[in-house]
Amino acid sequence: MNLKQIAAERAAEYVEDGMKVGLGTGSTAYYAICRIGERVRDGLNIQAVATSEASDKLAREWGIPIVPFDQIGRLDLTIDGADEVDPEFNLIKGGGGALLREKIVAANSDKLIIVADGSKAVQKLGKFPLPVEVVPFASEWTFQALEKLGCQPQWRMDGQQRYLTDNGNLIADCHLEAIDHAADLNVQLNMLPGVVDNGLFVDMASTVILANADGSIEELH
Ligand code: 5RP
Repeated sequence: MNLKQIAAERAAEYVEDGMKVGLGTGSTAYYAICRIGERVRDGLNIQAVATSEASDKLAREWGIPIVPFDQIGRLDLTIDGADEVDPEFNLIKGGGGALLREKIVAANSDKLIIVADGSKAVQKLGKFPLPVEVVPFASEWTFQALEKLGCQPQWRMDGQQRYLTDNGNLIADCHLEAIDHAADLNVQLNMLPGVVDNGLFVDMASTVILANADGSIEELH
């Protein structure tokens, strides 16, 4: 079993009968969805909401009952991956492009469990380029605003085309190297009119499960 799978399957044990569950996106969340799917096949009764079209499809393939976000109400638990996690549980997310729905679902959850291999744990956020979701209207103007903030943005590409999110928006990956004040930057970025949201998740994660290369599992609360 690989490290992502170990962390994700541990988190899937938190899901209990009757819960409303948020399903994350990415190669680690994938294993959590599969494990939850196995449990549903064994009789676990839950309702779920997915954070991306890809996770929605995977969950439906497993027979996990998916409910539209606006109909599910408050979620008990969301399990999702991350690109970086700092000691205060601040996160960079959005490497898979799903940051907007992920942040909405996380904000609507009593508990956000982050699952990752140990390499995602960092002392300071920022080595991983911070994804910023930008509306296509006036995208160049917004890009320049990000440049003026010193974010060193680069459009995410999908072959020759700009990458499009499930919401039809663009992603500017910001090469910051080190983020000293994640909470301030989060607000600053989201105040730019063309920015929909960014991949900084501040004060949202309640539990972090890390599977390390030495075989240890850290479950931090
Ligand atoms: C998708 C995400 C992912 O959770 C994040 O990129 C981690 O992905 P992976 O588990 O594949 O390393 O935020 O938008």
